[in-house]
Amino acid sequence: MDEVMKRYEALKEKVDGRWAEFAELMKFIETETAYLTAPASTKFHLCIEGGLLEHSVNVAGNLLKIKNVLAPEISDESCVIVGLLHDLGKAGMPGEPQYLKNEPSPKQKA
Ligand SMILES: [Fe+2]
Repeated sequence: MDEVMKRYEALKEKVDGRWAEFAELMKFIETETAYLTAPASTKFHLCIEGGLLEHSVNVAGNLLKIKNVLAPEISDESCVIVGLLHDLGKAGMPGEPQYLKNEPSPKQKA
């Protein structure tokens, strides 16, 4: 299991109060969408296979750090759910990615 998946699984373990609902939702997301393999963007931030997952894990991790300082009353569980799923709309379905292949322009390659 790679480092991102380890961090992903550790974050999911922070969900306890809504575990049953969360587990069911994540099972659907992981098996019926391209969430685990989709890129985070077409040609910018983490435009690689698994980029969306890596971005989501990074956001959830940073959200936990920030909330511990600014709003410790917010549950870890809420931060994990929001962080992991904030870009779910980018996932697309297997074989039907949300993003179309889009080559960088000459200016972007420079
Ligand atoms: Fe995002």
